[in-house]
Amino acid sequence: EVGSARPTEFPIPAGVYAERVVSVRHYTDRLFSFRITRPQAFRFRSGEFVMIGLPNAEKPVFRAYSIASPAWDEEIEFFSIKVPDGPLTQHLQKIQPDDTVLMRQKSTGTLVLDALTPAKRLWMISTGTGIAPFASLMRDPETYEKFEQVILTHTCRDVAELVYGNDLAQGLVDDPLIGELAAGRFTHYATTTRENHPKMGRITTLIESGQLFTDLEVQPFDPAVDRVMICGSMDMIRDVKALVETFGLTEGANNKPAEFVVERAFVG
Ligand code: A2P
Repeated sequence: EVGSARPTEFPIPAGVYAERVVSVRHYTDRLFSFRITRPQAFRFRSGEFVMIGLPNAEKPVFRAYSIASPAWDEEIEFFSIKVPDGPLTQHLQKIQPDDTVLMRQKSTGTLVLDALTPAKRLWMISTGTGIAPFASLMRDPETYEKFEQVILTHTCRDVAELVYGNDLAQGLVDDPLIGELAAGRFTHYATTTRENHPKMGRITTLIESGQLFTDLEVQPFDPAVDRVMICGSMDMIRDVKALVETFGLTEGANNKPAEFVVERAFVG
């Protein structure tokens, strides 16, 4: 599957796809998204992550990235932070269409539908680039086959950082494949913490106060009704996980499905 990639100075390592950048979009000086060609043989489950790198060294630096596109998409999409001195992102943030991105052939991860037991409602709780795996899952028909109601929460520092998620939510409604399936069943709940916005506050604060449930007109987390996926910074995960556990939900895994799952967002 190297046919579409431009020649590079360094050989492509074994077990790695070399794919072409299709498009890049910058949201802020901290966040950008990009799409690459998808190798025909590459299969993944919505919500999984993969290791990506650049062909700019004999031994390229690889970092974990959640795949933001759904499993049916012909391209692969990623949503990334830009870290000025990040070993990968200092270079990755400069990619342009037709550049080559390396992707290891095996995807993995715990934010998958298989890791949750059946229930009525799925919560996808994210901060920052932690929305990426949910960008995939919210566009997967299987999510709506398994859950009656799907709620995505996304909290960022400022309004500009919410644009990626807002566009996704709007795109879902208009999507010919999934729009009808998701209609009336998907809710996007976006908040900021450092800039004025109609809804403000950390998700932990909104859960603790009960405001989240009041705003969405649903009952608080209940193991009989709710399943939760959590993705954000290490601190965010620790705090949201602790809160979710106070409602009696237990953590699941691929080999032991249960009531909530967590994964750390890529940080640099
Ligand atoms: P805050 O602005 O109060 O730090 P970051 O981009 O630094 O990962 O942050 C993304 C969002 O996650 C911010 O709105 C931030 O709020 C929030 N956040 C950071 N730490 C936590 C935490 N421990 N629990 C919940 N939300 C958090």
